[in-house]
This record gives sequence, C-alpha cells and structure tokens, in this order.
Amino acid sequence: MIKIFGKINKSLTKGNWNTTLSSKNEFDDFMLKEIYEQPSALKETIESRINLNKPCNFNELEDIKKILGTFDHIYMVACGTAMHAGIAVKKLYEKLLNIPVTVEIASEFRYQNPIINKKTLAIFISQSGETADTIAALKLAKEKNATTICISNVIGSTITRYSDYSLYTHAGPEIAVASTKAYTSQIMLLGILAIYFAENMQSAPESIIKELKEELLIIPNKINEILNNTQTIKSFAKEAANKKDVFFIGRGIDYAVALEGSLKLKEISYIHSEAYPSGELKHGPIALIENGTIVVSIITDSNLAEKSINNVQEVITRGANVFVITNQELPDFDYNEIIHIPKTNTLISPMLSIIPLQLFSYYIAKEKKLDVDKPRNLAKSVTVE
Ligand code: AGP
Repeated sequence: MIKIFGKINKSLTKGNWNTTLSSKNEFDDFMLKEIYEQPSALKETIESRINLNKPCNFNELEDIKKILGTFDHIYMVACGTAMHAGIAVKKLYEKLLNIPVTVEIASEFRYQNPIINKKTLAIFISQSGETADTIAALKLAKEKNATTICISNVIGSTITRYSDYSLYTHAGPEIAVASTKAYTSQIMLLGILAIYFAENMQSAPESIIKELKEELLIIPNKINEILNNTQTIKSFAKEAANKKDVFFIGRGIDYAVALEGSLKLKEISYIHSEAYPSGELKHGPIALIENGTIVVSIITDSNLAEKSINNVQEVITRGANVFVITNQELPDFDYNEIIHIPKTNTLISPMLSIIPLQLFSYYIAKEKKLDVDKPRNLAKSVTVE
C-alpha cells in the first residue's frame, strides 16, 4: 500500500564531509578521534545559527513559526544515545517553552498508542537517520497529524525524507559504533532550537536566552579544557577495568548523563553497569554495593549538590570506590578520584559532563585490549526492528 504523507518543506542541503574526517589520522581508534573532534564538530553545529544580537537562525523552519503557539505537547523520540540526548534537553525545553515534553524510546512509542494530534510537535533524533524503529515512530506521528522535525547527522538519510522539517547536526561522519560527537552535537542543535522557539514565542526572559547563547558559544572551548587533562580519568579507568559492575549516579540533569555514561561503558567494555538517580539507590540497588564496587557520581547542579553528596556518602560507607565528576566546590569527603570540569548553565551541562565518561569507557576498553570501534553484537545503524 502506498501512503502519501502530505506536503514536505525541504531546501537543498550540501554535504561537507571529506576524507580527513573518515580516516583515523594520528589516533589509534575512530572513537578516540571522534571524542577529540567534539570541539570542532560542535562549532560546525553552531555555525551561523547563534548570533548574540539577533534571534537564532533556522531558515528551514520559517513555516513553523506561525504555528509555534499552537503546540501543547512535545515528543522527543529516538533510540539509544540519541534518546539520551532527548532526555538531556527535556528540562531546557520545559523551562524555556513551558510546554510538557515526553521523551520516548522509539520501539516503545510505536506500540503505546501515544496521544498525538495536530497540537503535537514530534522531534525525532537519529545520527544515522536510518534507524528502523525511529522511522516507524515518525510515520506513526505523521499519520496522527503531528508536526514533525528530525535531527540527523546524515544528509538525505531516510528520516529526513519523511519529516516535515529536517535539521542537520553537521558533526561529520561518525564511524565508531559507540556514539560520542553525535550525542553532544544533538544536544547543541536541540539547545539552539529550544532558544529559537523561545525567541519566537517570547516564552522566556531575554536575560536567560542571552546567558544560554553566550554559554553555548563557549562550550567547544570548555570541552577542549577537559580533553587536555585526562590523567585522572586514565588512572581511574585502570582501576575499574577488572571490575564486574559499575554504577553511574546523579540527580536531575546529572541522571540524564549517567544514563549515557552507563550505555557507553556497556557497549565497549562489556562491563555490566547501571545508571540510577542518586536518591533512588536506597530503594533497592544499594543492596548491590560492596567493598570495591565502582560508583561514578556526577554533580553539576548546585541546588542538588548537598543531597548528591549525602547519597555518595551512603555508598562510601558500604565500601564503594567513588569517582566524582563535578563543576562545584565540594566539601571534602572520602572519594577516590575527582575530576573538575568547567562551569556552565546547568541546563546544558551534559555536553561537558559526558566527556570524562566517554574517555572513562574508552580507556577501560583499551586496558582490556578490546576493539573499541567495533564492539561485539552491535551495528552502527540498526535498520531492523
Ligand atoms: C550509541 O553508542 C549506540 N551505538 C546506539 O545506542 C545508537 O545511538 C542507536 O542505535 C541510535 O542510532 P541512531 O542515532 O543512528 O538512530
């Protein structure tokens, strides 16, 4: 049966990928190269979209401007790391737009009979643009009259052909199976898009918009600072490489990053790991903490720092070895290692706090002499359901 999906508004987009981007150059692996490419990849994502003196620029979205005020619900739908990017920006959208956002796993969304109508804006996120479940979810949203936007890294990919509007991350080719620069560039593009919506809807104070724009522009430099100082991450990775379980914990936006850190570790190091909201540990998982269990704690929200430290103390008391990633001045407590990352607005902090976690997984996999670029049982793009 042939289905017609109505008018699609598309402009011509030219690709900018070249052979330097698809070779390892001086790096041992594509994954490490792609981790280090994040500052330049994000500059490409930002390119010409943010201007401090003017509203953000999305020529592709001119038609959507007039109906922005009609949306009463936003869905973000994706799989794996792309879905984690949705979770990472949910709070930013809700704060700037005052519209509820639901982030859904594409393979679940399709079978849950989601409430969708013409007041729904559905955003589909996919590095490859070829993920079968995400494409099927997009088709469902279109059938139910949602307005659809896709965020993809691959020009002309299938998802871009079905969406009403296509936005490109321009992160360059991502070859390692474990996604790194696609994740941060998705958060960057989604962040700029949230600001663009807020500017057009006048739904957030100018001072917040201005601060966010300024912060987004300097994220690439702040990532560079983290990438230039990896010794502590390497030494903790060495300690963790022979462990069977690792826990990633955080509150609020730090829990979003914990999810992605845990996925990276599972994918390339084959170590079992769990991500938990710090406050939830005592409702069950703390039973698993014993002498030497590795717990990675992310603390970037000053409002939640004290509570997070209390949760970390609880696992230390039970013998855990704790690795803290923070941008706060924390009081002294009994952690094993600490990484200080640059400060930024909490709502966009995942682009910085994920970097040590990507490197942590990478160094563990190298320590175990695993093939980081092609982990077992995984494919770069999942084109089957
Ligand atoms: C990420 O490290 C994974 N390889 C995987 O979770 C991936 O993000 C997921 O399959 C979605 O892929 P996509 O972004 O190409 O749709």
